Amino acid sequence: MTLKIDTARLTDELQVLAAFSDVPSPAVTRVVFSDQDLRARAWLRSLYSEAGLDVREDAVGNTFARWQGSDPSLGAVGTGSHTDAIPHSGMYDGTVGVLGGLEAIRALQRSGFQPRRSIELLMFTSEEPTRFGIGCLGSRLLCGSLSPESAAILKDSEGMSLEEVRAAAGFPGQLDSVALKLGYYSAFVELHIEQGPLLERREVPIGVVTAIAAPASMMVTVHGEGGHAGAVLMPYRKDALMAAAEISLAVEAAARTTGAIDSVATIGLCDVFPGAINSIPSRVRLGLDIRDIDADRRDRIIADLERSCRDVETRRGVRTEIQTINRDLPATCDPTIVSAAGAACDKYGLSYDRMVSRAYHDSLFMSRICPTAMVFIPCRAGVSHRPDEYSTPEAIAQGTLVLAETLAALAA
Ligand code: GLV
Ligand code: MN
Ligand code: MN
Repeated sequence: MTLKIDTARLTDELQVLAAFSDVPSPAVTRVVFSDQDLRARAWLRSLYSEAGLDVREDAVGNTFARWQGSDPSLGAVGTGSHTDAIPHSGMYDGTVGVLGGLEAIRALQRSGFQPRRSIELLMFTSEEPTRFGIGCLGSRLLCGSLSPESAAILKDSEGMSLEEVRAAAGFPGQLDSVALKLGYYSAFVELHIEQGPLLERREVPIGVVTAIAAPASMMVTVHGEGGHAGAVLMPYRKDALMAAAEISLAVEAAARTTGAIDSVATIGLCDVFPGAINSIPSRVRLGLDIRDIDADRRDRIIADLERSCRDVETRRGVRTEIQTINRDLPATCDPTIVSAAGAACDKYGLSYDRMVSRAYHDSLFMSRICPTAMVFIPCRAGVSHRPDEYSTPEAIAQGTLVLAETLAALAA
């Protein structure tokens, strides 16, 4: 069996999906359950049906498009990714795994391949934390890593609960029906852009992921004392922003000095209250993202964060609160799927590197319930989460080809 990817169609579909966006091209903003997200979902469902797939949606909007295998008693082989996009990001993060997954299935159909196990394409709800603060919402619920009760109380920045938002979006079912039974999938493979520079730099077309780094995110609130920017003299201040600045720099220093290049810490959110140029900040909220491939080393950065909060409390007279949003373990990919993906590369003469994923993905959670691995393709200069994110049509087609072969090997 030799597979052929329809590169022109896949490229075109990625462009169509990118146009479902709240901001002008090339930037993409597609927040979960926004109008654009719902319109994109409807268009994707039409593509799944056109490919003859059976479509099902769960109560949180995870979408499953199934190509029935000849033996329905066997666990299915899953593939897929997400289509939500963080504000002002690019058009390839996640989407390549959904539309590439669909094209992989269509390529297998065109070749006359008959799967013994069903092959199921998944579009996960809200891999990005933009709206509800926590990443991989859909896959956490699927895998039982987040309880339905904890999910139900999540709120967006407008104060709307997940319950209200998903009901309004047309997903009224019970959240406790989302978790999958063990054995539902026999394997899961996700195609994704690398979001790092290694493949491009080494001129290697495919990365086969062997492990996914452990993410943690937390909100730190600093309560100080507000006041008049002219009248309150410096010795008498309890400026929440200056305390938050010290905490931020301490976290950066902690991540820089673990001795490992794998430690990263980012403060991507900073809300200053009341937010007036002539008013001393009385309250600051910081959003932190801390990751490492080694969970213990990551946790030592979190311990440094805690120490730094206590330190500014003593020295500056402020009060701090730390709220942990998630603190996940890393994932190890399944050696059998890693080998199958490697064999698929060999078959088409594509070189590949085994590598670690520093970004998190729904695969991090799928790995908790079934053997999982990922296939990476290069993206220009490793850029991601930016409008200039780019992968060539050839790179996407090569990744899709490797995915299709891997799915065939796992489903045969
Ligand atoms: C996913 O988007 C991540 O932040 O790793
Ligand atoms: Mn992303
Ligand atoms: Mn992604």
